[in-house]
Amino acid sequence: MTFWKFFFNSTNINQIREENKNKKTKLLVKGLETNNIYLSTCKKINLEELEILCDAVGWVRRPLKKVKYALENSFLAISLFYKYGNDQRLIGFARVTSDGSFNATIWDVVIHPDFQGNGLGTLLMKQIIKELRTHDISTITLFADPDVLKFYKDIGFVIDPDGVKGMFWYPT
Ligand SMILES: CC(C)(COP(=O)(O)OP(=O)(O)OC[C@H]1O[C@@H](n2cnc3c(N)ncnc32)[C@H](O)[C@@H]1OP(=O)(O)O)[C@@H](O)C(=O)NCCC(=O)NCCS
Repeated sequence: MTFWKFFFNSTNINQIREENKNKKTKLLVKGLETNNIYLSTCKKINLEELEILCDAVGWVRRPLKKVKYALENSFLAISLFYKYGNDQRLIGFARVTSDGSFNATIWDVVIHPDFQGNGLGTLLMKQIIKELRTHDISTITLFADPDVLKFYKDIGFVIDPDGVKGMFWYPT
């Protein structure tokens, strides 16, 4: 992605925090130079960079061709970049599949370990919810790894509402 293309497709996270200033949900970012952190909804993501990010949190590699197809067919993809000079580094990512009307499911939520614990994951998730709400989508789901429940609960996600259970089918 060229610098200018990146520039016009991105929002500095300070802007997002400013927009949320008067809302109940505070988007705190602790101890980071936030001037250099940008959020982008451009779906044309460098796949190798994404792979490096996913490797950093120990996720199993997936065929790049399938990842590319999944991205193209996602309803929304949000990336966080750390910008230095004319260059930038992908430090966070999440994507959403949706019918664009009723339901949306969030996938592949990740913040690079060097940047974890600063509120960026929360900011990414809240921005996703905000974008989905602009489409009046009211049911937002995700599949949480057991050790990350607190992170999602803090954002407002609930487990098994009204006893609803997630069910899976896998080829045998
Ligand atoms: C989960 C993840 C996206 C959180 O990103 P982050 O930027 O570190 O999260 P935040 O700084 O916004 O954390 C917000 C709160 O969630 C909690 N939290 C963050 N990561 C957590 C984790 N792995 N397990 C439990 N709680 C977690 C934090 O303690 C924090 O609570 P606090 O405000 O009381 O301290 C990040 O840790 C990550 O990429 N993990 C590896 C990939 C992964 O597991 N993704 C989720 C798959 S379902």
